[in-house]
Amino acid sequence: MRIVLLGAPGAGKGTQAKKLIDKYVIPQISTGDILRKAVTDQTPLGKEAKSYMDKGELVPDSVVIGLVKERLNQDDCKKGFILDGFPRNTSQAETLDGVLKDLNMPLTVALSVDVDFDVLMKRLTGRRTCKNCGQMYNVYFSPSSKESSCDKCGGELYQRDDDKEETIKRRLDVYKAQTEPLIDYYAGKGIIKRVNGIGDINAIFNNITSMLES
Ligand code: AP5
Ligand code: MG
Ligand code: ZN
Repeated sequence: MRIVLLGAPGAGKGTQAKKLIDKYVIPQISTGDILRKAVTDQTPLGKEAKSYMDKGELVPDSVVIGLVKERLNQDDCKKGFILDGFPRNTSQAETLDGVLKDLNMPLTVALSVDVDFDVLMKRLTGRRTCKNCGQMYNVYFSPSSKESSCDKCGGELYQRDDDKEETIKRRLDVYKAQTEPLIDYYAGKGIIKRVNGIGDINAIFNNITSMLES
């Protein structure tokens, strides 16, 4: 299974990817997670990426495409992968097609998780993430049983720097302008599937797996 996950900021790409990797035992490749780790580790890449991420803008293609290419060439991707947050514009999508063609691993499906914009602000301002294992919680919808630690592993929960109202607005605008057109791009290739991303997380996951397996 070679999957691209599409969806607006807060649609639940990461939440569903975490469940998919458990079920299908394939790696999740989240460019957002890779970039955030680089920012935390203060690598040259992280220093370059941070200013874009803090503004809610896309990090330049030249930076992100290199990261993904390198990751897709690793052995564990041979059995499949879930790309979460990549591609985000047409140029990234075209480059990805070329890379996967060379590797002889074409995409199985592009799955768009659809959520109305008015719900997303609350999801994002309420999001908390485990520093240790990456599990996502939401103070409004799915809180951890202890306010500041993870139910799964006891790790400390944190709030992302870009989950501020002003930055969220910009991320949503960038999504509309640059990423949403990819739904048509993959429809044109006959591999788009769309799932309603509002409702119970497990119910959405069940819809996704039945779509993937049909
Ligand atoms: P990235 O990390 O990809 O962020 P994003 O696209 O803005 O998406 P999010 O991670 O915010 O949302 P999600 O869909 O994963 O939602 P989640 O599952 O967490 O990118 C961040 C930045 O990095 C970008 O702005 C850019 O600067 C840079 N970047 C990354 N990739 C790039 C690329 N390819 N090119 C250039 N730049 C790039 O869920 C959100 C919340 O909702 C959680 O609290 C969760 O618990 C809750 N939730 C989930 N599902 C439900 C549900 N069904 N009901 C109620 N609550 C729910
Ligand atoms: Mg995410
Ligand atoms: Zn944890």
